[in-house]
Amino acid sequence: MLQIHDKTFEIYLRNDEIQAKVAEIARALNEAYDGKDTIFIAVLNGAFMFASDLMKHISLSCEITFVKVSSYQGMNSTGRVDEVIGLTTDIRGKHVVIIEDIVDTGITMDKIHTLLAVEHPASVKIASLLFKPDAFKGKNKPDFIGFSIPDAFVVGYGLDYNEHGRNTQHIYQLTGSSH
Ligand code: IMP
Repeated sequence: MLQIHDKTFEIYLRNDEIQAKVAEIARALNEAYDGKDTIFIAVLNGAFMFASDLMKHISLSCEITFVKVSSYQGMNSTGRVDEVIGLTTDIRGKHVVIIEDIVDTGITMDKIHTLLAVEHPASVKIASLLFKPDAFKGKNKPDFIGFSIPDAFVVGYGLDYNEHGRNTQHIYQLTGSSH
């Protein structure tokens, strides 16, 4: 059991299961990107553990960089403005693999995908450790998925609940989730 703020979580995916899956995703990526000019772009903060473990199994000659997505109220009538912060590397003509911890509704990933596409990469694909198919309503489904999970809140292994709980090796699910 794990207590974070006002909520209690129970173990959902053990670290050994996660590690086995991470190695499997890496094998698929090593095969798919063999001989290609590849850049991995990990989305902070949530993907930091997944990216770190994943890259230890990547045998490609490649680049890795980290971005954050910020969302703020713009001055104009369109309201929220989104930007990808920290992308200092030129991705033109490169094969991009976005490394994400979780794709839930898919809104965040659609934004990142759109913002990266204008930089003219050769391709953009998504590797996400977790995917919630029942919550998904986006346009860009992850191409490499670790675990498809029910639509219940999870924390740990990089994922947070109000910025706490990222520093665990297992993934936990909110207790009382009906799934
Ligand atoms: P989206 O709904 O796919 O746009 O996901 C937005 C963001 O919400 C993700 O990148 C995560 O940071 C966060 N998120 C979604 N589901 C969970 C969860 O179950 N636990 C922790 N964070 C989550």
